Amino acid sequence: MSRTAVLKVLGVAAVALLALKLLFMPSPKAPYPHIIFIVADDLGWNDVSWHNPQVKTPNLEKYARAGVILNSSYVAPVCSPSRASFMTGYYAHRTGLQHIPIIHFKEMYLPSRFTLLPELLKQKGYATHLVGKWHLGFCNWRYTPRYRGFDSFLGYYGGQEGYYNHSNGKVEEGYDLRDNEEVLPDPDMEYGMYILNRGMEKVIAEHDKTQPLFLFLSYQSVHSPLEAPQRFVDLHPEVKNPNRKTFNGMISVLDEAFGNATAALQREGLLDNALIIFTSDNGGSPDVGGNNWPLRGGKFSLWEGGTRVPAFVYSKNLLSKTGYTNNEFIHAVDWFPTMLNVAGIKPTDDHLDGISQWETLKVGRPSFRKEFIYNIDEVDQNGAIRVGDFKLIKGEPGRFFDWFPVPSGDEVAPTQYPTWKRRPWTPKMFPDYQLFNISADPEERHNLADDFPEVVQQLKQKLTSYERLVVPSQHPPVEPKSLPHNFGGVWTPGWCD
Ligand SMILES: *[C@@H]1O[C@H](CO)[C@@H](O)[C@H](O)[C@H]1NC(C)=O
Ligand SMILES: *[C@@H]1O[C@H](CO)[C@@H](O)[C@H](O)[C@H]1NC(C)=O
Ligand SMILES: *[C@@H]1O[C@H](CO)[C@@H](O)[C@H](O)[C@H]1NC(C)=O
Ligand SMILES: *[C@@H]1O[C@H](CO)[C@@H](O)[C@H](O)[C@H]1NC(C)=O
Repeated sequence: MSRTAVLKVLGVAAVALLALKLLFMPSPKAPYPHIIFIVADDLGWNDVSWHNPQVKTPNLEKYARAGVILNSSYVAPVCSPSRASFMTGYYAHRTGLQHIPIIHFKEMYLPSRFTLLPELLKQKGYATHLVGKWHLGFCNWRYTPRYRGFDSFLGYYGGQEGYYNHSNGKVEEGYDLRDNEEVLPDPDMEYGMYILNRGMEKVIAEHDKTQPLFLFLSYQSVHSPLEAPQRFVDLHPEVKNPNRKTFNGMISVLDEAFGNATAALQREGLLDNALIIFTSDNGGSPDVGGNNWPLRGGKFSLWEGGTRVPAFVYSKNLLSKTGYTNNEFIHAVDWFPTMLNVAGIKPTDDHLDGISQWETLKVGRPSFRKEFIYNIDEVDQNGAIRVGDFKLIKGEPGRFFDWFPVPSGDEVAPTQYPTWKRRPWTPKMFPDYQLFNISADPEERHNLADDFPEVVQQLKQKLTSYERLVVPSQHPPVEPKSLPHNFGGVWTPGWCD
């Protein structure tokens, strides 16, 4: 063959190779998995269909069963502490948010010394979006989502509000709904979830598929007030108790929104390379419809009903063992290093409380976590620790101390139980220390403190070692400068340093 002939053949071969390469080239893919972190608000242990068939959560259950159901997944007893842990990997008692949730009219916030999850994910090129509740402070702009690592924010700054009027009326009525920093008016008073749902769909549709996505869906459902569009309440004709009927409707809203999110991910081709994490932020509140049966207590308490919550992970391709229930300990603080791990980031901070659970979730290996703190509150002088089978509770465990079956008739919600407004706890109801074997007694019916004094002693010592790290709780007085009348009726940043 002549030299030109050889060159011709080579040229044809090169063109053919290029054509083949183009033909088989995979569609552009993000270098790290998309992470969809979904947090339901006040969803109790017994408020999902895989624990309670009376509840209808077909979308959630389908993904939970196809993924890994987390049966020992723990969070703090209330919202801001859990959310602070999700975003920092630290226990609440090291952030100053352990005592009360952040309140609109008090100078409270997650301190700036913490670098939050989305800030770190951005280093690996993640697009970061928050849709829904923030609740980690807004008295200064610097504490609001887009100053803390989120590219976009659609939602509300506070802990709760009306689903239709987007307004919170404690001390003074104020509007709280924003698109990034702009107030988002809603003259039609649309149900909040519909607004968040459209925001979620927009983020997913507009996302550049070659970039990894971190989407935090921080849903308002199923927090009080008891409000749901009638079509969701009508899905529960067999439920007699009126509060519980509406509450079941609110759970159905959450389930439909979850179904819409997975459908949007699928439609946009993001689901194949995504990890979905679903958890509640604390236990259900029995006075406003939530239910934790058969666990004891509820939101605002150190009992299992306040802290052990429904959770699961799902991924089409990233998990090698699926379709089972995982009983390993996972705590709210672990999600931070776990998500970083998925994004190929090793935290440089050695003082984190969280540990990566990625191997436990991915292949089912035993968790590195053998103990955890439920909470430590130096103001209420209570706290709880788990080590293996045993749980030690110090002081008064908190708001709901009973076991609440799902209300079946017209009975009124148990509002007569001591509330956090009555701190310090008088009269004292419980011994200084209680010990439970949670493996044998997950319902906390048998205090074993007198049977195992040496275990009590050991756990007390461990708890004390964690107490040494307590940062004083934020619980300032009402700040008149915060009130909405100073800002045209809207809860607005700009009244603290
Ligand atoms: C907003 O809705 C909540 C819950 O229904 C209600 O308690 C509150 O009074 C309403 N606020 C206004 C300004 O209508
Ligand atoms: C789910 O998506 C459908 C179709 O877009 C929409 O009509 C419905 O309102 C969405 N549900 C919720 C709870 O937002
Ligand atoms: C706690 O309960 C588990 C499960 O029943 C049991 O195996 C274990 O021995 C108990 N621990 C103690 C110290 O009694
Ligand atoms: C989940 O934990 C409970 C104890 O709290 C236990 O009875 C149940 O068997 C566990 N479920 C599975 C499927 O392991």
